[in-house]
Amino acid sequence: MKEDMLIMAVESSCDETSAAVLRGGREVLSDVISSQIAIHQKYKGVVPEIASRCHTQCIAAVAQEAVQRAGIAWKDIDAVAVTAGPGLVGGLLVGVSFAKGLSYSLGVPFVGVHHIEGHISANFITNKQLEPPFMALVVSGGHSHIVLCRDYCSYELIGCTRDDAAGEAFDKVARVLGLPYPGGVHIDRLARQGNGEAFKFNSALAHQDNFDFSFSGIKTGVINLVHKLEQNGQSLPVEDIAASFQEFVCRNLTEKTVRAAVKYEQNKIVLAGGVAANSRLREMLEAECKKANMSFFAPEPILCTDNAAMIGCAGYYRLMHGYTSDLTLNAEASMSLFG
Ligand code: KG4
Ligand code: ZN
Repeated sequence: MKEDMLIMAVESSCDETSAAVLRGGREVLSDVISSQIAIHQKYKGVVPEIASRCHTQCIAAVAQEAVQRAGIAWKDIDAVAVTAGPGLVGGLLVGVSFAKGLSYSLGVPFVGVHHIEGHISANFITNKQLEPPFMALVVSGGHSHIVLCRDYCSYELIGCTRDDAAGEAFDKVARVLGLPYPGGVHIDRLARQGNGEAFKFNSALAHQDNFDFSFSGIKTGVINLVHKLEQNGQSLPVEDIAASFQEFVCRNLTEKTVRAAVKYEQNKIVLAGGVAANSRLREMLEAECKKANMSFFAPEPILCTDNAAMIGCAGYYRLMHGYTSDLTLNAEASMSLFG
């Protein structure tokens, strides 16, 4: 495979249909993202069946637009990359089938990519000089993982959530506070006007000497707090609750990630996933990295949430390391990145 190959990438694992064209892995020529948020908002969460139907309806047009915006022709494409898992299986199947058809009709190789590897790889697009090894914190709607990336395509799981993912906790707490779905961005915004010390939250694992997380109890803590305030006839200090919740989660994520980097002798920390767009998490992790003499990397906000450019970047390194998929590739709702 040539170093400056043109890759068409497709992502459809949740509620974004996205297609991108990259040259040489880190140069994004186009990244088209069609979000279904407005459709799922009235259900206060993603409805898998509706999501897969929407992917089917728009994937061809999204890919066509990615080709047009990149200023290339279909025949210029050298390889295809697609998210094969984990995610909602109906959505994944749409992307995988589209990628197979495209690769077959163009006569070019294609490669299935793990969604988390995609999120981590978004960092290579924003930070052109970044190279493994590093410690990564991957926090999204479906994952909260601390991952040691020893080399391209080589990952070791250091810790993960035992229940809810960080993004899931943001979304659930936002729902309790009456904010729209997905709630992470609204908590982030409101927390800026609140006092992060106003309320104390806790989690069973927060102060334990391991690298795992537990976020499901915090939602209960917020529900109990809201009930207590309502029973006392007090108005909800939404900004203070948002800020206190966010402060606790960000502190927990930051402390464990920095401790993991120290233990595994890493001097670079890489943040990834939808929750990586959170302004407080970026600020806190960057400050703690500085104190610990470590470099901090995060993707630009548009590359934090689901997009195909990050899948194209991960696919590039897979292809350069000799990985390809064949037409037997299946979509996998729960797919492991680790051995
Ligand atoms: O990576 P992503 O787009 O999808 C998954 O792979 O899950 O992540 C979506 C998650 C949602 O839970 C959303 O609320 C959260 O990322 N999120 C945020 C922010 N922006 C998106 N959470 C906290 N602060 C934000 N600014
Ligand atoms: Zn994601």
